[in-house]
Formats: sequence, structure tokens, C-alpha cells
Amino acid sequence: MIDRTKNEEFEKILEMIDITKPAPAEEPQRQYYFIAKAREYVAEKVREAGRPLTFCVTTFGCQMNARDSEKLTGILEQIGYQEEADEEKADFVIYNTCTVRENANQRVYGRIGQLNRVKRQNPHMLVGLCGCMMQETAVVEKLKKSYRFVDLIFGTHNIYKFAELIVTRMESERMVIDIWKDTDKIVEDLPSERKFSFKSGVNIMFGCNNFCSYCIVPYVRGRERSRSPKDIIREIEELVSDGVVEIMLLGQNVNSYGKTLDVPMSFAELLQEIEKIEGLERIRFMTSHPKDLSDELIEVMGNSKKICKHLHLPFQSGSTRILDQMNRRYTKEHYLGLVDKIRAAVPDISLTTDIIVGFPGETEEDFLETLDVVRKVRYDSAFTFIYSKRTGTPAAAMEEQTPEAVVKDRFNRLLSEVQKISSEVCSVYANTVQGVLVEGVNDHDGSLMTGRMSNNLLVHFPGDESLIGKIIDVELKECKGFYYIGEMVKK
Ligand code: SAH
Ligand code: SF4
Ligand code: F3S
Repeated sequence: MIDRTKNEEFEKILEMIDITKPAPAEEPQRQYYFIAKAREYVAEKVREAGRPLTFCVTTFGCQMNARDSEKLTGILEQIGYQEEADEEKADFVIYNTCTVRENANQRVYGRIGQLNRVKRQNPHMLVGLCGCMMQETAVVEKLKKSYRFVDLIFGTHNIYKFAELIVTRMESERMVIDIWKDTDKIVEDLPSERKFSFKSGVNIMFGCNNFCSYCIVPYVRGRERSRSPKDIIREIEELVSDGVVEIMLLGQNVNSYGKTLDVPMSFAELLQEIEKIEGLERIRFMTSHPKDLSDELIEVMGNSKKICKHLHLPFQSGSTRILDQMNRRYTKEHYLGLVDKIRAAVPDISLTTDIIVGFPGETEEDFLETLDVVRKVRYDSAFTFIYSKRTGTPAAAMEEQTPEAVVKDRFNRLLSEVQKISSEVCSVYANTVQGVLVEGVNDHDGSLMTGRMSNNLLVHFPGDESLIGKIIDVELKECKGFYYIGEMVKK
């Protein structure tokens, strides 16, 4: 995916398109055609309104969704909309939704309801819904019935068609719905607008084949498919030439990258190729599944100069019995063995994780195994989740759903343990000097800049905006629990 929004070459491509002719069948040319066509329609609306038209894309969910939102933003800017941070003022509101837990869905419904009120006051306003929630039939049925004011509904497999769907909506006056069950298609070379100038997410694969028994992602994101290494490298090279120094490789299970390619390639091999890209300084990736974390990958991480000293390795539960019920395909012992191996290869690595509490049938004993893993590994930080029943997943049909009060109690005990440990772990870097990628001005204190260490910890220090996007040395003066206050080291 190229950041082509400000690219003159792309402008030339668009100028050559004759929108009075029928649309080409091939991608991405077909979408270029619809971008050109949508531009005409938007220009007309702008004339009608007598002012610029604006958009606001709101992302719910994970980094994969955040990256998708950058693609939606890229297209909206190409067709002539301007970004507006205040959703209530925008003429085109997009919700890129998440459905991994039930409360994610509830939040979205609440907010869509409010949009109706805003829309009644703005005749130019369009509302689009996309993302994982839209892949659920029951959701779309509900929207069709009770949320008639929504203009556009599409899913996770066809976001590349955004411009085409906008044109369809502008040429009709009714709700446009386009949801695909699955796809094996990957469309390259569409516009995208990055949120940060100096760092970017890069998709390396889509979908998931793991079917953990609690998880809805494989149903809403489809089967696993990897991008070709050639396309990935080309995208990163272009990002680097555009000022990016840090990339985050994205996939639901990056460790199984490349298995479905015509010429199979391992994730470790891909990382070695990416490491060679000149000008790229930091490589991150997300997420790793313990069952596929190879010795080869651990070795590559140990030898790398660019891969960040951070591994997010979700364990979900410490009980081998529950792990089996979750279809995670590793045991507690195997997981702890991996942690030892990675720490031997990369001694100062920061480890983070995801944990689920209250999976059906979880006993106090099972929960104590989870606490035991937390105490043994001593994570830098951990995301803790209360199990959420997702219709259609095998776990939803399991009997013995754990009582709410028991789950709450376990969750609170887990959270306080995780927090206590992470504040202890965080403080070990005091008085060391660390490379910090400066991300921006501190949200609360304008005299401070905020940056991120290789291990993902945040550091705030006196500085100015000219440092944004640079990696500089900072001495860590004081640990404040989950972040540091530091001072730039004068060269
Ligand atoms: N592919 C990633 C996870 C994506 S979802 C991986 O396997 O690591 C992010 C996290 O949400 C998961 O790691 C899990 O901890 C949590 N999660 C997924 N489904 C859930 C559910 N039904 N209830 C509660 N938490 C869930
Ligand atoms: Fe969900 Fe498991 Fe796939 Fe992660 S690996 S997305 S938890 S099914
Ligand atoms: Fe949510 Fe979809 Fe990501 S369900 S966590 S946005 S893959």
C-alpha cells in the first residue's frame, strides 16, 4: 500500500481516467476509476454546500483496524473530503468497528444512535459503518431494521472497494450494503494516509486460521493469507523514503507468516530481509502466537540490530487444561520454556501479554495457574480481559459459564498482581541512557516531549518539536510507575 495521497504520479494516473467510459474490471485500476468519479460527485456537493466537506473516521479495536482506517482516510482525502476531528461537525462519519468482546459492540450501538440526531441537522451528512462487527449477520440485520439512516455498510474483506461503494451510494439514494463472507484477494497500491509521519503499521498477513475456541476473529477476518515479501519490502522502502523510521508488522499471528505463499517463507526470513532496508531503524511486530514461536525467530531477534526489544506473547491462561479447551495448542510448561529461551537470547527484552479470566469451566485452581505464570514471567505489562461470550464460537456453547461475581473477583486479583509487578519491572531502567523515538509534545505539559524506548516504555523529557520523528539518547531520571521522566543526553 503506497502513501500516494500527495503523490504527483498518482494525480497523473487519475487525470488519464475517462469516467464517461465503463469501469475497468481489474484492480487496483477499477478503484482508481471510482476515486476519479467520486471526486466529481464530491466537488459538486462542495459547490452545493458552498463550503468544504469534511470527514471523521473513528477506529474501534486493534492495530489492524487502525491501519485499515488509514486506508479509508487516504481514499476520503483523495476524493476531496477534509479531515475533521470533531465527529459531530463532520459530513462523512465512518465507524471502523470491533467485535472481539461484547462491550465493544455495545459502545458502537450507543454511538450510532447519537449520530441520527446529528444527521437530521446536516443534509450533506453520510454515515458509513465497516469493520469486524459488520461481518456478523445479526448485526447487519439489526442495522437494516432499526438504523435506517445509515448510508453505507461494508465488511473487512472489501475495504479496498471504499471509493466504489461511495459512488454507488451517491448514485442511488438508499442504504448500500456490501459484505463478503471471505476472500483470497489482496489488492495492493491504493492510497493511504498515515497518522504519524515517522512510524507506520504494515500489514504482512490478513485473517486467522487458529480458531481459538473463544475468539470471533477467524469468523470476521477470514482465512489466513500472507502478502508477498516483494510487496511488503517495497511498501517499507517507500515508507522509509517518506520519513518513516519505525514500522510495526501486523498480523493476527505473525509467526505463521508465509506458510500459504506460492514460495513459502518464514517470518524469521522475512524479518532478515526487512532488516536490510537502509534508513529503517526500528522493527516491531504484533501478534505472536506461542505455538508458532520458532527457535529461528528467537535467534534472529537475538542477532538483530533493528528489531525492538519487546515481545507481545499472549498466554491467555496458565492452566494447561483450560489452554486445551481454548484450542491454543501449547501447555503452561511449553510457554514458560519459550520465555526462558527468549530471555536467554535477548536478556533485556520486555515481555507483554494478553490474559483472559473466566473462560467457561475455569476453576480457582486454573486461575491460580494463571497467577503463577504472571508471577514467574513478571511481565512489563499485560492486557487483562474478562471472558466475553461470542455467538458462533465453540466456547459459547460450553456449559459451566463461570458466575459473574467469581470472575470479577479473579479479575481484580489478577489486575492488582499485574500492576504491582509491572511497576517493579518498569523501574529497573532508572539512571540508564536509552534510545528514544520522539513521538510528539506531551499531552499534559507543553514543555515536555514524549517518546518511546525500544522496549515500548514511554519517556517524557524537556525538548522541542524539532525532535519529533528522531531517535535520540535520553537519560532516565525517574520512574513514575509506567513511564519515565528523563533528560536528553547532550552529544
Ligand atoms: N491474534 C491475537 C489476538 C487478537 S484479539 C493473538 O492470538 O494473540 C486480542 C485479545 O483479545 C486476545 O489475545 C484475547 O486475550 C482477547 N480476546 C479474544 N477473544 C476474547 C473473548 N471472547 N473474550 C475475552 N477476551 C477475548
Ligand atoms: Fe483469535 Fe486465536 Fe486467531 Fe488470535 S490466534 S485472532 S486469539 S483465533
Ligand atoms: Fe477487533 Fe477485528 Fe481487531 S474484532 S480486535 S478489530 S481484528
